[in-house]
Amino acid sequence: PFPILTSVSEVREWRAARQAAGEQVGFVPTMGALHDGHLSLVRASLLANEATVISIFVNPAQFAPHEDLATYPRTIEADIAALASLTIPVEGSSSPRTVSALFLPPISALYPSGIDTDVSKQRGTFLEVKGLQEVMEGVSRPGFFRGVATVVIKLFNIIQPTKAYFGQKDIQQALLLRRMLTDLHVPAPLASNLVIIPTYRDAASELALSSRNAYLRAEERPWATVLIDALHKAQQVWDEQKTKGAVVVKDVLEAARASVRAVEKKAQEEGKGVEVRLIYVALNDPDELWDLEKGESAMVPRGKGAV
Ligand code: PAJ
Repeated sequence: PFPILTSVSEVREWRAARQAAGEQVGFVPTMGALHDGHLSLVRASLLANEATVISIFVNPAQFAPHEDLATYPRTIEADIAALASLTIPVEGSSSPRTVSALFLPPISALYPSGIDTDVSKQRGTFLEVKGLQEVMEGVSRPGFFRGVATVVIKLFNIIQPTKAYFGQKDIQQALLLRRMLTDLHVPAPLASNLVIIPTYRDAASELALSSRNAYLRAEERPWATVLIDALHKAQQVWDEQKTKGAVVVKDVLEAARASVRAVEKKAQEEGKGVEVRLIYVALNDPDELWDLEKGESAMVPRGKGAV
């Protein structure tokens, strides 16, 4: 249905043809095991661009040696079928829009110097976004965002998209990449066209769709709503305080933490071996990712959002 490109030179040729045809190119980078969350990004790209390219690449640089690189779900045949089945009607045209190309590179195409998950054994060029990479997810996954930024700048340089699409589910990733575009003076139009798409959730459970949900055992699944429940509790306090004036960060976070603690306790008592454990809850500035709980001001003024 669409070409599957595996080498950088094939992408360059494909890209030049899009340029010659005067087409805008939307890009959705993924690690595959595609679900409706990924597909909502692809749909957004199909709506806004004449051409849409998806990449599927399980990026070794963003996995620590003890993490799940070897077992990360790989479902390439189903992924291709899911992408092939997407069609978006175009106003004033009889032919609907479909995915234009899939970039499926081997590791050697993206890492010509090779790649080891052990940072001390790596060779070649790596990219860090200091200040934003160490906080939130970065605390428990050191090196993760270095791997993400490194592979995404490579993909951007190869594909040279007009727009790129990322999920709000991984908000720190999207904001860090936006900062990367600014700091490296990546040229327009991409510089101001990193689009963030709202988190796609299972309608019944409100669980955010995620490739790694495949790791949840059936008996663990119902407990995963602990995340959205805590967010709702925090949002409630946020909204209440916002209407009255400034928001007290500590109160918002405490609402979330109390909600998680209650579920932790319940799981201990009746979870039949299911463990619920809080790693962190944080409220951060949407540009700088400052930790607002530790910040000079513990108040979020009217009109200012948070992550
Ligand atoms: P991956 O986890 O496959 O996700 C690819 C994109 O889909 C990311 O932008 C992610 O935020 C988005 N996404 C995943 N689940 C979503 C959901 N339920 N709703 C909305 N968007 C969702 O993120 C990565 O891959 C990698 O780090 C990558 C950027 C490809 C670099 O290797």
